[in-house]
Amino acid sequence: MFDTLWYGGDYNPEQWAPDVWDDDVRLMQRAGVTVATVGVFSWAKLEPADGEFDFAWLDDVIDRLHAGGVAVDLATATAAPPPWLVREHPDVLPVMADGTVLGVGSRQHYSPSSATYRRYAARLAERIVHRYADHPAVIAWHVNNEYGCHVPRCYSDESAVAFRAWLAERYGDIETLNDAWGTAFWSQHYASFEEVMPPRAAPASINPTQQLDFDRFSSDALLALHVMESEIIRARSDKPITTNFMGFFKAADYWAWAQHVDFVTDDAYPDPADPRAIPYAAAVRDIMRSLAGDKPWILMEQATSAVNWRPRNAPKPVGGFRRLSLQSIARGADGIMQFQWRQSVRGSEKFHSAMVPHAGEDTRIFREVCALGEELARLTDVIGTRVPSRVAVMFDWDSWWALEQTDTPARVSYVHAVLAWHHALWRAGVTVDFASRSSSLDSYDLVIVPSMQVVTPEVQERVAAARERGATVLVTYQSAILDLGLGVLPGGYLGSWASMLGVRVEEFAPFAHPDQYFDAPSTVPGSAVEGALAGDIEGWSEVVHADAAEVLATFTEGLAAGGPAITRRAPSEGAGAAWYVATQPSDALADAVVARLLADSGVTPVATSASPEVEAVRRGEKLFLINHGATAAEVEWDGGAATLEPGEVRVVASA
Ligand code: GAL
Repeated sequence: MFDTLWYGGDYNPEQWAPDVWDDDVRLMQRAGVTVATVGVFSWAKLEPADGEFDFAWLDDVIDRLHAGGVAVDLATATAAPPPWLVREHPDVLPVMADGTVLGVGSRQHYSPSSATYRRYAARLAERIVHRYADHPAVIAWHVNNEYGCHVPRCYSDESAVAFRAWLAERYGDIETLNDAWGTAFWSQHYASFEEVMPPRAAPASINPTQQLDFDRFSSDALLALHVMESEIIRARSDKPITTNFMGFFKAADYWAWAQHVDFVTDDAYPDPADPRAIPYAAAVRDIMRSLAGDKPWILMEQATSAVNWRPRNAPKPVGGFRRLSLQSIARGADGIMQFQWRQSVRGSEKFHSAMVPHAGEDTRIFREVCALGEELARLTDVIGTRVPSRVAVMFDWDSWWALEQTDTPARVSYVHAVLAWHHALWRAGVTVDFASRSSSLDSYDLVIVPSMQVVTPEVQERVAAARERGATVLVTYQSAILDLGLGVLPGGYLGSWASMLGVRVEEFAPFAHPDQYFDAPSTVPGSAVEGALAGDIEGWSEVVHADAAEVLATFTEGLAAGGPAITRRAPSEGAGAAWYVATQPSDALADAVVARLLADSGVTPVATSASPEVEAVRRGEKLFLINHGATAAEVEWDGGAATLEPGEVRVVASA
């Protein structure tokens, strides 16, 4: 699929007169662009009226790109329905939980369950695929765009019908649904599927399993659109198909989605002003690589500098575009694409940076764009090479959805709970894979299970089996509390992991916090733990009994004061150490735990540096060393050492 790394961006020529198109090709050549994503928002221009298609301009654009040596990732153009479609068929519009109908004038104004939308989208995709399947410029298909980005769920009557069909398929008969949802509670018993509604605005909290099933259904409803278009493409073309993901995006269970793309692509816009954005971006690359498995993954969208959609939009620092690009390559990407090629002069995104800025070619941004193009052209030998990892961090959409519902012991941010561990390993120079509930854990020496509230017996067995064959295991608070129907596990919290860990959890004791969402460390009331592993914690404590584990830290405050906060069951008879952390640790505490986990598991960093801002990742036979900091930093690795200047990236050979 790749002779060169993909380099380029979303190209929206319909915003420009044709004389600009020639200039685009000239500048793309200067910048080393290899691929342009074309047609993402072109529906209204390609089908200006119902059934009237105009492909002449797109033929021209694709031919020009081809003549200029730029390949095309061709979109199916279904992401923004044209106004005529809404005028003729208002039933395509999505409806919110409170009954609000979302209208035209923006984008993504369609209900995934709308039969009308599906019919028109299928027709457009068919026409595009039919016309361009054999065009030599077209090397891949880009289905729709960021499914669910603005409209993750639709609560319309048509969506209600689709939800019921999805439930009938899942449960078979209504009494099975009643059991699974626990409808004996609050007089919620249903006599037939026809009575079941999406979780629309209601007087009080809505049945949790109804909410979770609606989350599952909504992810599947969006995925069904992708599958519909993919089948249309597949009938006519064998070129690879993708749709762009959005990192840790709550509304779509990407483990399921990743099965339906030929290569994974991701759109990532870390905030240059956010000090945690670099490890967060690393985590996003890691989950994309993990979702892709044996398939390639590509960074499909990023900004060359600022975005336009935050309240304040910081530019990337000098060199920041390159560092984040090479971070992606280091973590497995086979291409670096941008939103967008040429900065718009009209419309909502005119202040969003691009590869060709308003100020033109004699600019910092365009120079950085050209320099990266040259650098990527020299890195082709990374294509297809692997990023080794001995550590798995489990990530589970059901647990995300469940943990962040209302009517829980405390509002916990699932991503924050998970990434505390990813980031501590990042700081330690250890590369992490993410694993789903059903991923094999066979190749890992350290398995981390953060706040996996919803479990199956199978995942409990798989984690226990990993420990039994010698892997070190860490489980954290709010893991293994509920089954797939959100019923509390029989036999107590932690289920079968209680015996693996040698602990029992009796009661939860989150620290009071009247109105803050528990996702930003600075806003969560802190406390501390003391003992061999002492440090600050955020928000959570619980009453734990360490029946067969050593207590390494105890809570200092509240109901759980004096009781175990961090425990370790020692390795024995070939089985690895089993850790339990009953709270959300501060960075420093997580670092201290991770140091012990690395010692227990024998996992070592690929390189070491005293600077927390140095990132080191091995890919294939190369070691990528990135100094994100503003001061020089010493780095050492097996067989080498270097001083990295502020902002420097170095790619060295490594065995
Ligand atoms: C993405 C989207 C692009 C563009 C970009 C701006 O969400 O796919 O079309 O809007 O954001 O950051």
